[in-house]
Amino acid sequence: MRIDVLSIFPGMFAGPLDDSVVGRARAEGILDVRLHDLRAHAADRHRLTDDYPFGGGSGMVMKPEPFFRAMTALGEQWAFRPRVILLSPQGARLEQARVVELSKLGGLCLLCGRYEGVDERVREGLVDEELSIGDYVLTGGELAAMVLIDAIARLLPGTLGGPGSTVEESFNENLLEYPHYTRPRFFAGRSVPDVLLSGDHGAIRTWRRKQSLLRTARRRPDLLMRACLGQEDRTLLEELLREGELAEATRLVRWMLTGDRRDRGSPAL
Ligand code: ADE
Repeated sequence: MRIDVLSIFPGMFAGPLDDSVVGRARAEGILDVRLHDLRAHAADRHRLTDDYPFGGGSGMVMKPEPFFRAMTALGEQWAFRPRVILLSPQGARLEQARVVELSKLGGLCLLCGRYEGVDERVREGLVDEELSIGDYVLTGGELAAMVLIDAIARLLPGTLGGPGSTVEESFNENLLEYPHYTRPRFFAGRSVPDVLLSGDHGAIRTWRRKQSLLRTARRRPDLLMRACLGQEDRTLLEELLREGELAEATRLVRWMLTGDRRDRGSPAL
């Protein structure tokens, strides 16, 4: 997969994209990240990429010309037009399901804004989609672009060594992961749950599923509401209710398990 990135700070990408899984994917040609310095496409001799906002107000706005000129130059390299994504706090919040979809595309072009934002004509004329990595404001879109690249890279075929590790993980089913343990068996006064040493694969699978449900109910009830739960999950949640494990989430889980949800609204999360 090819990902072009337009930024006035392409140097920020060194490091996160060089090591570990992303670095390996790039070295092996699975991922081809091309960094482009927006300043090189500025229209004036001072290489200005930002200017004062029309209408006044604080902060600077990124000028449209560098983005349009860079995209025209890139258009000559691309065999097909990639999906163009602007990283900004105003975008749709990035979720794993969207990462999975984007990882299946042949190419992406990521535009990184700075300052108060980018001239609206960039959005209107160039951008297919606007994404945010969360409801907080970064100094620019670069870190968000790196987050997106990292999340995509690990899903590309050949990157993580086999489908198992990504198929079974958090968020694919809107459930958080169960607790993991490795050696030593006893550490810092705590021991590994016996079931994990039992060799009983059925019991281990059930324990893990129950732990996933418990964690999600306690920590992310909003996710549990969207999870696809089967009959076994409902039984496990009932067990957790009986065991008094669900604490604050008790009311929500009771409500989820009583089939009739018409006109009652959901309990506050
Ligand atoms: N640029 C600044 N803040 C951002 C955010 N939360 N997500 C994506 N891009 C951003």
